[in-house]
Amino acid sequence: MNSDVSIAGDPLAIPHLLPPVPAYPVTVAEFAGLARTIAADRARWAPRVRYDATTRWYDRLETGPGYEVWLLSWVPGQGSGLHDHGRSSGVLTVLDGELTERALGGNGETRRSLLPGHQRVFAPGYVHEVVNDSLEGAVSLHVYFPGLTEMTPYACTSGKPAAKGTFTG
Ligand SMILES: [Fe+2]
Repeated sequence: MNSDVSIAGDPLAIPHLLPPVPAYPVTVAEFAGLARTIAADRARWAPRVRYDATTRWYDRLETGPGYEVWLLSWVPGQGSGLHDHGRSSGVLTVLDGELTERALGGNGETRRSLLPGHQRVFAPGYVHEVVNDSLEGAVSLHVYFPGLTEMTPYACTSGKPAAKGTFTG
């Protein structure tokens, strides 16, 4: 009896016909996986945490083809303001502490508490604000693809763009 493999040959035995395994993440799931891998490697990011009372502290951990990874440190009370991410998609992962996200969408405002391990994945056009409403410092990891070059700040509650802005953390 013949099978497809015996007739046509095993395609897995012909390496040159297989697509190359990408050396870098290219899908949303792979970017989320990259974030989880970095999150699990505390020795990699913990020494770069820096709490600064004057501004959110941010540090670029990694860049690759078409993406950037940022580490952000938040003291209590610090927040991002309402913004979008230009043409970038992203993965936000909380590494330490607690952050509160307020997102504006078609169903109105959604507010959620984000704890270590929680991830939020968003596409271009996603509008949110992230705040450290807790009494402790918080640390988060942000993967942007493509790298974040532009953010539009939004008026406080209207959900309409207030003015063009540039990335400041
Ligand atoms: Fe954001």
